[in-house]
Amino acid sequence: MIKDFNYYTPTRVVFGKNSKEQVAALVRREGGTRVLLHYGGGSAVRSGLLAKMRDLLNAEGITTIELGGVVPNPLLSLVRHGIEVCRDNQVDFILAIGGGSVIDSAKAIAYGVPYTAGDVWDFWEGKAVPAATVPLGCVLTIPAAGSEMSSSCVITHDDTLVKRGINSDLCRCRFAIMNPERTFTLPPYQTAAGATDIMMHTMERYFSRYEGMTLTDAIAEAILRTVMESTPVVLAQPDNYVHRAQLMWAGSLSHNDLTECGYEKDFATHRLEHELSALFGVTHGAGLAALWGSWARYVLPRHDKRFAQFAVKVMGIAPQGDDRATALAGIEALERFFAAIGMPTSIKQLLGRTVTEGEIAVMVDKCSRGDTITIGSIEKLGPDDMTAIYRAANH
Ligand code: NZQ
Ligand code: ZN
Repeated sequence: MIKDFNYYTPTRVVFGKNSKEQVAALVRREGGTRVLLHYGGGSAVRSGLLAKMRDLLNAEGITTIELGGVVPNPLLSLVRHGIEVCRDNQVDFILAIGGGSVIDSAKAIAYGVPYTAGDVWDFWEGKAVPAATVPLGCVLTIPAAGSEMSSSCVITHDDTLVKRGINSDLCRCRFAIMNPERTFTLPPYQTAAGATDIMMHTMERYFSRYEGMTLTDAIAEAILRTVMESTPVVLAQPDNYVHRAQLMWAGSLSHNDLTECGYEKDFATHRLEHELSALFGVTHGAGLAALWGSWARYVLPRHDKRFAQFAVKVMGIAPQGDDRATALAGIEALERFFAAIGMPTSIKQLLGRTVTEGEIAVMVDKCSRGDTITIGSIEKLGPDDMTAIYRAANH
């Protein structure tokens, strides 16, 4: 059955080598006059991108205020600080310069500035729902999280290490400036982890309890094949513009809900991974690679046909004796691909050690919110299922 849908993807994508030159006009169009430039740990400084953005905006009479220091798996403490900075400086637009972590930190600040009734974390605790934001845009420097077009904002609480996402159309970027050249400097591990995340955003919708939307399938399968073709090329040739461009566009399409039309998010692997990156600070995409095969084998038994389709259409597996055999060959082939691009396919490969039963219990408790929620769509997973999947990946 195909799921009804309401598809809304309002972000203006400005893509290509000269895209940054348009930044002042884009900010002006959104009414920005005092702009917070938000960035990460230094790559935007080293590359000169931050200075370039500052100059382009200042040259058009737009005031800029800077706040760097966003870490991967962005933290609530900097969000709170950013809210104060915005209020003190009457910021009316936020420009995120970086990847998913910077964009999510910017989104959270944007939620928090107009919210004076409480603390911004209320939104992640479900105590309040965002009603307004400061408008924001981004200059994307890594294809991975898809936050540039998504409605999602994932933040980690510094003290409790609760890592959670909330969704609202209010936080969608008004524009996303994407120049593939900016991704030439990515370290191989970040390139590969980003590619994995892009694949997973696509697969987390491909494996859903709905079926039959073959157009959406074809789009998803093309995105997946493109990522698998382009990633090895850019790992060998970091400055290959064409393949960097393919990856960058795939990253946006993978998470702007296009591949969800007719289907439903599963995102169980994502939920399980968020506990790993919250507890151990690992790179999100690498955490996904470490868990996916274990999740896939766990849910496979009632979904042979769908996994067999994935094996044939995406992994190029010749149909085997039956759907189960084809499906398993497809799962193995994707794990081989992850390994070939330098991604872990187990928790030990991810962390350098296995996790303890106690750590699994902590992750399961957080993931199931004390056994009050299930995760997943193709299969609903509770604490016992989560435990089994972590254990299966724990080698
Ligand atoms: O901090 P800097 O110095 O900029 O370095 C970053 C960071 O260390 C570096 N980097 C980025 N662009 C670069 C570069 N290094 C060299 N050259 C460049 N051009 O890459 C590292 C990773 O950056 P980060 O922003 O953390 O990566 P990513 O885009 O993968 O974002 C990960 C975060 O997004 C969340 C993840 O959970 C994680 O917190 N997600 C957000 C989603 C969303 N909002 O829709 C969905 C995702 O599923 C995901 O959960
Ligand atoms: Zn992701």
